[in-house]
Amino acid sequence: MMDRPRIIELPKIIDRRGNLSFVQNGDGRLPFDIARVFWIYDVPAGELRGGHAHHRERQVLVAVSGSVRVNIFDGGEWETFTLNSPYRGLYIPASCWRTMDGFSSGTALLAFSSLAYDESDYIRDFDKFLKLASSR
Ligand code: TYD
Repeated sequence: MMDRPRIIELPKIIDRRGNLSFVQNGDGRLPFDIARVFWIYDVPAGELRGGHAHHRERQVLVAVSGSVRVNIFDGGEWETFTLNSPYRGLYIPASCWRTMDGFSSGTALLAFSSLAYDESDYIRDFDKFLKLASSR
């Protein structure tokens, strides 16, 4: 199967006290072992985040609260996913340009990453990304 952006359904333990979802290494749901977790929050209305690609890093994003649009460009076409469910993750393979916009107030966007933070893994220049993508 091609390594494409896709939605991954996560477990949802329904409980009258409140629901619970989780991820864990080794259960086959995420396409990589988690090396790092970070989260984005307090995003002012109208702000855009992202605006980069990664050489090797892969991620799964979960809007644990609120709603956000994630726009992904693999060098050929753009795809937009709306994340608004705490039990759905968006898998982003390596070598994909991404932007996040349309953050609703109070959105918390959780990210599971395949690698420790390494600025040299980032591609922050769109023209450079296009050149790399066309040489693939
Ligand atoms: P960046 O990944 O560019 O944010 P966005 O999600 O909008 O694309 O990260 C913003 C800043 O935070 C940048 O200076 C790098 C730093 N940062 C870390 O130090 N560690 C991390 O794990 C992440 C994700 C970012």
